[in-house]
Amino acid sequence: MAQLWGGRFTKETDQLVYNFNASISFDKKFYKQDIIGSIAHVTMLAKQNILTEAEKEEIIEGLNSILSDVENGKLEITEEYEDIHSFVEANLIKRIGDAGKKLHTGRSRNDQVALDMKLYVRDEISETDELIKELLEALLVIMKEHTETFMPGFTHLQKAQPITLAHHIGAYFEMFKRDRLRMSDIYKRMNYCPLGSGALAGTTYPLDREYTASLLDFEGATRNSMDSVSDRDYVIELLSALSTVMMHLSRFSEEIIIWNTNEYRFVELDDAYSTGSSIMPQKKNPDIAELVRGKTGRVYGALMSILTTMKGIPLAYNKDMQEDKELTFDAIDTVKGCLALFTGMVKTMTFNKQVMEESAKGGFTNATDVADYLVNKGVPFRDAHSISGRLVLLCIEKNCTLDDLSLEEFKSEHALFEADIYEAISLFTCVNKRETLGAPGKRVMEQVISEYETYLSK
Ligand code: ARG
Repeated sequence: MAQLWGGRFTKETDQLVYNFNASISFDKKFYKQDIIGSIAHVTMLAKQNILTEAEKEEIIEGLNSILSDVENGKLEITEEYEDIHSFVEANLIKRIGDAGKKLHTGRSRNDQVALDMKLYVRDEISETDELIKELLEALLVIMKEHTETFMPGFTHLQKAQPITLAHHIGAYFEMFKRDRLRMSDIYKRMNYCPLGSGALAGTTYPLDREYTASLLDFEGATRNSMDSVSDRDYVIELLSALSTVMMHLSRFSEEIIIWNTNEYRFVELDDAYSTGSSIMPQKKNPDIAELVRGKTGRVYGALMSILTTMKGIPLAYNKDMQEDKELTFDAIDTVKGCLALFTGMVKTMTFNKQVMEESAKGGFTNATDVADYLVNKGVPFRDAHSISGRLVLLCIEKNCTLDDLSLEEFKSEHALFEADIYEAISLFTCVNKRETLGAPGKRVMEQVISEYETYLSK
């Protein structure tokens, strides 16, 4: 047991208590952020003449040697230390002696851990954003290729109106684009440095907090030391945004699972992204999509967990807050893993254009267009709607599609039907005449695609 706070105590900590209290098994994950934060701290201390230049140099050299030794495996982070902060400080003292004991001047583990967590979250926000961007790039490739791949659009999981695959995928493009915006919003809001807040009430040393903040690329220093050490809003915001990313991935997964069923056969998953059954030789299962859908629960769980942990904590720091780490780390790793795998699956998936198109032809997805045809000839929409409905009923009796009806049959419902009805309700027309901004019509779709291209090139 290597503790930083033995002075006031007369008895050794009970081993079970020690284990219960220790966080090294998980906070070792941010050894790098801890060292980078310490380097900024001593640089500021020297600028303020709280440390000498020589002490600063010695400490920074020591910290850098710890960093490289951890990274190349020479120095192992072991559980004999309570947390990553104690590990770094104890090893620094081991390496450079007395100067190392000055590292913690004007600092508490409370503002230190607040800083480490922010630095870690900041890095992970950037990485997650990059992974979402890669997914968007893969989606755009599909969109560009499939502006004329017709498929049914659904409401209530019932065929509704024909759309294109580009249009359907475009809906997910919008969702993930918003996810990226959420990432950058959180980044901006959290990007203020808590270091220099001390345990809760600042310190008597003449620290230059703005300087430390600038060394660490923060927008500035936080403005209330009590809030600084006990704020985990950004963790909650991140977990909420990550939950939304998972919700999007999960909805998409659900669709891929449906599209991959024997009944739909809209998509073919690459062998590398599907698995077989140990008993049924014919099976090719969409396990990746199912796992992504399943892991969504775990990320939601992390959000609920931290919200619940934070709700009763009086100001300022309390040990409860140590609970923020494991669940945040797990959620971030889960989302990053899911994004990477999902992108791989989507990139290698192929679409059965013919099957999709055939499916769009069934289900009377052009019934609205039959009504619109009459509306264009002056029939009020409500009347046109029921005429089209009666024609659908006729088709159901005859077991055919609207396109299969004879002109006489159309005319029997309304005299204004002419031979051009067939062209007016063809799949091609139904889709491409929908040219309102955001609709599947090819012309307007291509305009949106080119906007997406510009957006991704930035
Ligand atoms: N391991 C602690 C955490 O994760 C670090 C801060 C400890 N501060 C303290 N006063 N015990 O929150």
